[in-house]
Amino acid sequence: MNRRQFLTASAGMGAMSWLSTSWAAMDHSQHGGGAMPQVMKTVANMPLLPESALISARAHAPLAILSNTATAPQRFEATLTAATYEVELVAGKKTPMWLYNGQVPGPLIEAFEGDEVEIRFINQLAQASTVHWHGLPVPPEQDGNPHDAVPAGGERVYRFKLPKDSAGTYWYHPHPHGDTPEQVYRGLAGLFIVRSKSDPLAAFAEQHLVISDLKLDANAQIPDNTANDWMNGREGQFVLVNGQREPVVTIAGRQRLRIWNACSARYLRLAIPGQKLTLVATDGGLLEKPVLKDEILLVPGQRIEVIVGDGKTASTQLKALAYDREKMGKVAPEVDRIVAQLNFTSGATPTIPAQLRKIADFGRATALKKVEFSETMSMDNGVHSMAFLVNGKSFDMNRVDLTSKVGEVEVWEIFNNSHMDHPFHIHGTQFIVLDSKLDGKRRNAPYRALHDTINLRPYETVRIKTVQHDKGLRMFHCHILEHEGQGMMAQLLVK
Ligand code: C2O
Ligand code: CU
Ligand code: CU
Repeated sequence: MNRRQFLTASAGMGAMSWLSTSWAAMDHSQHGGGAMPQVMKTVANMPLLPESALISARAHAPLAILSNTATAPQRFEATLTAATYEVELVAGKKTPMWLYNGQVPGPLIEAFEGDEVEIRFINQLAQASTVHWHGLPVPPEQDGNPHDAVPAGGERVYRFKLPKDSAGTYWYHPHPHGDTPEQVYRGLAGLFIVRSKSDPLAAFAEQHLVISDLKLDANAQIPDNTANDWMNGREGQFVLVNGQREPVVTIAGRQRLRIWNACSARYLRLAIPGQKLTLVATDGGLLEKPVLKDEILLVPGQRIEVIVGDGKTASTQLKALAYDREKMGKVAPEVDRIVAQLNFTSGATPTIPAQLRKIADFGRATALKKVEFSETMSMDNGVHSMAFLVNGKSFDMNRVDLTSKVGEVEVWEIFNNSHMDHPFHIHGTQFIVLDSKLDGKRRNAPYRALHDTINLRPYETVRIKTVQHDKGLRMFHCHILEHEGQGMMAQLLVK
């Protein structure tokens, strides 16, 4: 099924701006497929709770840890259950959320390079789901592809081995066909850290900041997506860190922060006013050398590790500065937001090593792939409709879009042929960025880093170098989940 249809049935749809009055059907044959349209739930804009409705300024909560039940060494075994839980986020109100093991966010899996991982997934949701191990080098049949749905009430075991050099900061989330946006915005996402026994930053105390956002209506219920959410990606009015609004993070001395952008669509231009961030790792683990930054753009799906603090006392904030990702239609202006209060206190200030590791450049590329993200808007029976496409096509589970050979080094040239930012993500591997081109200016990647998700500005081209290590089917897509859900996804068959 590769067509999606928005119904105007919901009350109020007809009375708003062009954006929602016109937003209705996407059942066009010009983008191929011809499969029956699938209905996506859309609601009218509605009053939302004010931001003050969620308590702020509580002490930063550590993540719940998924405990390892394995009895043998070098193994990690546990169970993840996805189910509906009623959570009291706002005093006196019950908010049904879809959660892993009842946790907001889902529990943290901590394992070591070389470990065999075995996760039993129990799906107690009313719809099919999968668990996708975002960024991890997991074989395709273990990676929660939409083709391997675990039905409502079903279960399965995911098994994979964490290879050498995979240490880094990852996450997991559902990836079922069509329902990924909803399952994530209702709360399903958890964290995964792969540790190395020889970590050059082992001397640093470490804290975890999972940034997500949440939309709650006036009754503290999680509403379906509006037309605007489907178009621009959903941004909840609450920005949360480990499930809390604006917590107070106390940083004694110099510490390592792992930060996740687990939002469906919100871009985070992170900065600590008056301080530099020392970037030490990206999606796929450590950089070669630390890089000093005034701000870091963390787009949906990405992770970073930064070192902050100098042992002096200071009270400041982690901010998400305004970032214009060229949303469509009438949208609220972008503003600076406070993500967390930071209390720097005295403590140990280990030295940051000048060299963290070597990142191989994969060798000479012998294949080239071209990927183009685009959007189309058209008029159909008096109704505007949009499609989000990869290489001119909407996602089709039964179509192979590109093929690669196991172990072959490839350059991918990714072009954002649209007027909105889109984060490109590919499954099962990491890549290095070679260069990018925007407004006729070519820019080499300033340093070598491993990524599985990278942002593209409107009309930007980014060239990456990558390699796939397992045979099977891989997805690549925009990580604004509403765009992925509407077809901005394609399939790579690795042979
Ligand atoms: Cu987090 Cu297919 O992605
Ligand atoms: Cu992924
Ligand atoms: Cu997108």
